[in-house]
Amino acid sequence: ATVVEHTFNVEDVSIQRLCRSQVITAVNGTLPGPTINAREGDAVIVHVFNKSPYNLTLHWHGVIQFLTPWSDGPEFVTQCPIPSGGSYTYKFNLTGQEGTLWWHAHSSFLRATVYGALFIRPRLGHSYPFPKVYQEIPVLLGEWWNANVVEVEHNATESQLPPIESDAYTINGLPSDLYNCSQDGTYQVKVKQGKTYMLRIINAALNAQHFFKIANHTFTVVAVDALYTKPYKTDVVVLAPGQTVDVLITTNRPVGSYYMVFKPYQSAPRVALNGNLTRGVITYEGATSAAKPIMPDLPDQTDTPTAHKFYTNITGLAGGPHWVPVPRHVDEHMFITFGLSFTTCNNFSGGCTDGQRPLSANMNNESFVLPRGRGASMLEAFYFNNVSHVYSRDFPNQPPVVFDYTRPTITRDTSFAFQMAPKSTKVKVLKFNSTVEIVLQNTNIIAAENHPMHIHGYNFHVLAQGFGNYNATRDEPKFNLVNPQIRNTIAVPVGGWAVVRFQANNPGVWLVHCHLETHLPWGLAMAFEVENGPTLSLSVPPPPSNLPKC
Ligand code: C2O
Repeated sequence: ATVVEHTFNVEDVSIQRLCRSQVITAVNGTLPGPTINAREGDAVIVHVFNKSPYNLTLHWHGVIQFLTPWSDGPEFVTQCPIPSGGSYTYKFNLTGQEGTLWWHAHSSFLRATVYGALFIRPRLGHSYPFPKVYQEIPVLLGEWWNANVVEVEHNATESQLPPIESDAYTINGLPSDLYNCSQDGTYQVKVKQGKTYMLRIINAALNAQHFFKIANHTFTVVAVDALYTKPYKTDVVVLAPGQTVDVLITTNRPVGSYYMVFKPYQSAPRVALNGNLTRGVITYEGATSAAKPIMPDLPDQTDTPTAHKFYTNITGLAGGPHWVPVPRHVDEHMFITFGLSFTTCNNFSGGCTDGQRPLSANMNNESFVLPRGRGASMLEAFYFNNVSHVYSRDFPNQPPVVFDYTRPTITRDTSFAFQMAPKSTKVKVLKFNSTVEIVLQNTNIIAAENHPMHIHGYNFHVLAQGFGNYNATRDEPKFNLVNPQIRNTIAVPVGGWAVVRFQANNPGVWLVHCHLETHLPWGLAMAFEVENGPTLSLSVPPPPSNLPKC
């Protein structure tokens, strides 16, 4: 194991896309930002110098941060933002994790341009649980905005309107020939015939899930969210924002060129979702440059059955050195409903007049607000045992009212109460080492949609997923307790549910939220406060001396 050390200069740069130049905030001047290459067991140190005009933090998406909660990064949860002109050093270990993860800004919408890959390969002398690959190909799906993304976030939060959509999707920062002025901006990769390649695919888009295909080639999925899976053959991969998928492809087709294509998966009819495709080209060595690349057939944009099949067919390993058994005894059962709602004008931060109902989102009817302006992050409040001004410990284990979640036929009064989720900063306290099982139940109060739910500080087993209302008698017998997939982000089926389980062995304050970027500032979040273990070495360590102040 070694130390992987990076310096990240976050600064505004002007870059050219879609016929215009735009000032964006980027790390070390590149889009995407630098790739962190590491091996399992390595220590990572990243010195961040914030030379941008914004206060911001970085988050290492999917890194467990075992006993290093001060390096997790969500603003106001584990740290106050690094002020413009300030710096902070993130330090963490990559123990027990292998595969593809990524890092991104965890402030405002800045992750649109402040993101990059984090690859964790097996430690020296260890190998993948599948045959050696000839080469790896990183595939980062992103978004390009002609607008300033900080203003976009501000408008989405302070208005009652959903945000405008991005102007293009990108592969490795490039929008492709399907967009204006982008003929030269298409991601190209050369391959040799008859080899096996590993594609490390990351959905770094803000608000869209995506189908991914390569013409005439099939994939073997070998890992999701940096956890190995049982090899799964498919010709389409589906990823929600936050998720990663590692696939093998064998270049066993005739010498030629083939498009790789991302297409949004839209789980619910929504106004103005950017339905644009983006594509890159895979060219076999020896192909004539005149030959046009072949396009794959793509699923319909609303093809929920295809998305659901992919999401539910993935299983984990059962046995072997990488196997993580499912914890069997459950200490804490939670049932969490979530979705869109309204909030009342008087607990809304934006400008609205009484009687208006700004759009918001909630979990168990609580619309989460970050404790901005309360003098400390949640983790500092926890560590210094002074939480009362920062958050409260009464996040409910169940929604306050039981109703038909996916076809609300509740009475006017109840429905009104549910639409009006109050703003709060509530955590659920978990005993150290307790096992938690959560039914994540989508609701359909304003609109039904597939929400990618991300839990910080943990990977979790996904025991089952389905449509409609969760029903324990019917659904519990279907739990996969043998080899379920393990994730850090679960795309909960539209109008449906998912059951996840994890053991709370990592003390600290850990954010849980929808990884659709619009939904976090709307309040589709909550947090766990995981109590310290029995010894100092199993407790939250003291904050680093350069931790930014609020
Ligand atoms: Cu990838 Cu809380 O985020």
